[in-house]
Amino acid sequence: MQIGNTFMVKPNRVAASVFFLLAIIIAGCADGQNSDAVQPIVYSHYTHVEEGGAECLDCHQYAETQSAASIPNIKVCIDCHDEAISESEDEATLLMYISENKKIPWRQVYSVPDYVFFSHRRHVKLGQMECAVCHGDVGSLAVPVAEQYERITMEWCMDCHETSNVSNDCYACHR
Ligand code: HEC
Ligand code: HEC
Ligand code: HEC
Ligand code: HEC
Ligand code: HEC
Repeated sequence: MQIGNTFMVKPNRVAASVFFLLAIIIAGCADGQNSDAVQPIVYSHYTHVEEGGAECLDCHQYAETQSAASIPNIKVCIDCHDEAISESEDEATLLMYISENKKIPWRQVYSVPDYVFFSHRRHVKLGQMECAVCHGDVGSLAVPVAEQYERITMEWCMDCHETSNVSNDCYACHR
């Protein structure tokens, strides 16, 4: 009710700037911590990495060659899940996505805003860094990744660059 009244009595410009502010606040929340993301399938890194012996790069196939490591989808899963290999309901959900040839709508937990340049290749391949430095011990997680292990802030990036003697020139990260 109150919101409706505000729009009635104030000029359009005020309403517009309220929307603009809201958009920034919403965008700010969205590109920061996407904490407690709920995933469409209860995926267990533990089953695949610790028990199954899969390597991070088997699924996150571009971590050494591109900016984005990539979150695997049905094309990768189907290698082992072309039919049921367990009693799991979550596997049944996966098989449904596969049979309908639909993408699993994973929610990305780690992200930087568009105006920041980050490259996995640079850190993983050239910098020889372990995934765990930035993502923690993902292989031991029996539930999906729900929040950032190291919160991504400008300070976090710059602190490590400073101790590693890497450029903290604004244009290195803001191109
Ligand atoms: C290299 C083979 C392999 C690949 C690739 C693979 N899985 Fe699995 N997955 C397994 C094995 C092995 C099990 C355990 C089956 C059992 O219970 O004996 C499993 C079990 C599961 C389960 C059942 C719950 C559990 O943790 O036991 C789910 C859900 C699942 N996988 C999802 C996925 C998804 C999603 C992908 C693609 C992103 C994927 N898997 C890719 C081998 C694989
Ligand atoms: C120096 C820190 C750092 C290291 C090392 C690192 N990551 Fe990341 N990772 C990030 C950041 C920052 C983001 C968000 C990037 C973005 O939004 O473009 C991210 C995002 C991701 C994502 C989701 C978005 C995407 O890129 O597809 C996956 C999956 C991922 N990392 C996996 C890995 C794996 C696997 C390794 C090791 C092979 C690894 N990361 C090593 C910092 C790191
Ligand atoms: C069998 C495939 C598979 C393997 C092997 C695997 N992952 Fe994943 N990873 C996934 C799937 C599927 C997701 C999305 C569901 C989730 O968030 O748990 C994911 C999500 C992630 C994310 C969160 C990405 C984001 O921003 O939402 C990180 C970080 C990550 N994995 C790191 C690793 C690391 C490090 C390893 C090796 C220790 C590894 N993964 C091995 C399939 C795999
Ligand atoms: C834990 C340490 C660490 C963290 C955290 C980290 N970096 Fe780096 N970064 C490095 C290292 C080491 C290199 C140099 C890699 C090499 O040998 O080329 C590097 C290189 C870079 C470069 C290339 C620099 C140049 O001179 O062109 C960019 C850009 C970059 N990082 C962006 C980021 C951003 C953005 C973040 C945060 C989202 C981040 N980094 C977080 C360690 C880190
Ligand atoms: C090593 C990478 C890196 C360097 C160097 C860097 N930034 Fe950033 N910057 C980031 C990241 C990552 C974010 C996004 C932080 C977030 O989403 O909370 C960011 C965000 C910002 C923002 C948005 C507002 C804010 O504070 O969140 C501004 C403005 C900014 N940087 C200016 C600069 C200037 C000016 C410099 C040079 C003195 C600089 N940055 C150097 C990584 C870097």
